[in-house]
Amino acid sequence: MELNGTISAVITGGASGLGEATARALAKQGVRVAIFDLAAEKGEKVAREIGGVYCNVNVTSEESVIAGFKRAREAIGQERVLVNCAGTGNAARTASRAKDGTIRHFGLDQFERIIQINLIGTFRCIAHSAAGMLTLDPLSTGERGAIVNTASVAAEDGQIGQAAYSASKGGVVGMTLPIARDLAREGVRCNTILPGLFNTPLMNAGGPEFVQKLGSQVLFPSRLGNPDEYASLAIEMVRNPYFNGEDVRLDGGIRMAPA
Ligand SMILES: NC(=O)c1ccc[n+]([C@@H]2O[C@H](COP(=O)([O-])OP(=O)(O)OC[C@H]3O[C@@H](n4cnc5c(N)ncnc54)[C@H](O)[C@@H]3O)[C@@H](O)[C@H]2O)c1
Repeated sequence: MELNGTISAVITGGASGLGEATARALAKQGVRVAIFDLAAEKGEKVAREIGGVYCNVNVTSEESVIAGFKRAREAIGQERVLVNCAGTGNAARTASRAKDGTIRHFGLDQFERIIQINLIGTFRCIAHSAAGMLTLDPLSTGERGAIVNTASVAAEDGQIGQAAYSASKGGVVGMTLPIARDLAREGVRCNTILPGLFNTPLMNAGGPEFVQKLGSQVLFPSRLGNPDEYASLAIEMVRNPYFNGEDVRLDGGIRMAPA
């Protein structure tokens, strides 16, 4: 899909990190961008800077997502591109024994919260976006749209405490091919990126020493990924009409250890 001013894109989680980098990179190609995010101040700021529109959307809410697509389409037209970056994580062992002998297990409300945001939230945005893309005329390539999702290497090498996060991201990986198959006859493609360790606010929360230690575990280059490197692959997945039904690791060769 040729990227230019005739193309509109919705980026969930576009107020920060990987989504922000992708929103900025798409806007640089002339694409009209709508940012879906809970973080209003940051979302407004990024949207202002790239000449896009911010929509206050919670991907776990059906009404919020419907209202977001309505507002985005009124402002920038029906999107041909959806990039799903909204997500978060948590950490707790399935069951564990504390020093004082107390036994606990992973809270089911916390398990469900991560599935709601990372997996169901992603599918909710895909379903609503794809239905909108089907109303568009195909481009000369036969394409109506392109969808990019964000999983994680934790879908394949989940660490201690990541049962919920890994399950949510494994779900995103697992649904990529069936979604691509569902939408193929309408000319809509679907691909997923499995990022390794990227330098975003999510990772920076641990401080510079933590970031340095994490970076040293990466095979080559021995550093955290730059969000622009994520955006570059997301854009290639949109741009290249032969990219479809794929789950691609982008991780500097890291394979995560148990902890
Ligand atoms: N940074 C990494 O190393 C890394 C690695 C693997 C996977 N990922 C995945 O990449 C995605 C983006 O992560 P990031 O590092 O850019 O994080 P980030 O925290 O910088 O950005 C995530 C954005 O999602 C938004 N968000 C969270 N819940 C939301 C909801 N319910 N509705 C709407 N917006 C919501 C947040 O407000 C935030 O702006 C996430 O899905 C994350 O799991 C990140």
